[in-house]
Amino acid sequence: MSLDLAQAARHLASYRAELEVHMVVEEELVIPRFEQLGIEIKGGGAHFYWLEHKKLDGLLTGVEQGLAELTERGVSRGRDVITLLQREFTFEHLMEHHETRENYALYPALAEHLSADEQRDLWKRMQAREGQARADHSAAPS
Ligand SMILES: [Fe+2]
Ligand SMILES: [Fe+2]
Repeated sequence: MSLDLAQAARHLASYRAELEVHMVVEEELVIPRFEQLGIEIKGGGAHFYWLEHKKLDGLLTGVEQGLAELTERGVSRGRDVITLLQREFTFEHLMEHHETRENYALYPALAEHLSADEQRDLWKRMQAREGQARADHSAAPS
């Protein structure tokens, strides 16, 4: 078992950056558009998406903190990382649930209720916002 914590931290940082770009696009454009449509989906209202993004952010922060603590303390055995893996598992579990909800409710609802032009327009704005968020990220000091 390889315990390269520096490499893990680099991977985690780039994952965090990707996730933030993805979330900002959804939070500024996708979820509000869905909210505007006013569709009633049992257990699938817009606020669930906000809530899950917040939870995912908190869980990922927990993983980052766990990794930082391990890096400070140092690890010698595989079992030293078990708690961190458990945190990651919890994050992954919620992420899977969230993506399933988006892929089976949020995005299909938009595809069903928006005209082809509206969908194209939304998609263009999403891509532009994604490009801007990516540029902001690479300009930010890490
Ligand atoms: Fe999301
Ligand atoms: Fe998503």
